Amino acid sequence: MPFLIGQPLAAETAALPDITIDCDHNECIFPLMTNEVDWESRYGAADTPWDKGQAHPMVSHWIANIEVDGAIVVPGCGRGWDLRAWAEAHPQHEVIGIDLAPSAVLSARENCADLANVEIIEADFFALPQWYRNQKIGLIWEHTCFCAIPPSLRDAYVATVSQLLSSGGHLIGAFFTDMDDGGQGPPWNAAMEEMEQRFSPNFVIEFPDVEHRTFAGREGEERTIVMRRM
Ligand SMILES: C[S@@+](CC[C@H](N)C(=O)[O-])C[C@H]1O[C@@H](n2cnc3c(N)ncnc32)[C@H](O)[C@@H]1O
Repeated sequence: MPFLIGQPLAAETAALPDITIDCDHNECIFPLMTNEVDWESRYGAADTPWDKGQAHPMVSHWIANIEVDGAIVVPGCGRGWDLRAWAEAHPQHEVIGIDLAPSAVLSARENCADLANVEIIEADFFALPQWYRNQKIGLIWEHTCFCAIPPSLRDAYVATVSQLLSSGGHLIGAFFTDMDDGGQGPPWNAAMEEMEQRFSPNFVIEFPDVEHRTFAGREGEERTIVMRRM
């Protein structure tokens, strides 16, 4: 049965249509989703090959090239490297990291302890009532969260970011669109065609003429996608 994600829309997004997901309540989102990975165990075992100990190389590009109007949200923020870079560059903006693994949250809080504008919340990104406080959100930075969730949760992801962003707000990120995951994610690939299909009802997908830079070993597998909320 269709299920409405989260709580009533914030005042500034009240004009936007409700976003519904065509899935069963128990199968799809709560409690803590049908997440196929025990992320907490991965952090506990220091089995975190995605963690490069620094922000994604494209964060500095977007810090220099995009205006942010509202809070910045980083879903699946891990140990908080990207979060830290955004927060340092935008001390006047609230920067919110969400992660469901307690060890990641602990590390991210330590990592960003000196930054007054950072809040890191242990929560399921899709469970908006757990963490969303109706702030105006101007930017969502995506880096290895979309590829980390099972593909069955992609509808939930699109619905959640659509509900969070005010009109004109941006979802920017590095997305794995050109990787052979062999059906064995995470990370799970999402081809560009699928990205367009999923996001275009609510977003204008922009393809800036930027060279995508990434970490060694991931070249050619991911690309920058910039999406503006309609
Ligand atoms: C591959 S890791 C990437 C972490 C971080 N973005 C980085 O690059 O270091 C994926 C992260 O997403 C988190 N995660 C997965 N599903 C989530 C969800 N539904 N809500 C919040 N965090 C989630 C995991 O705990 C994990 O920290």
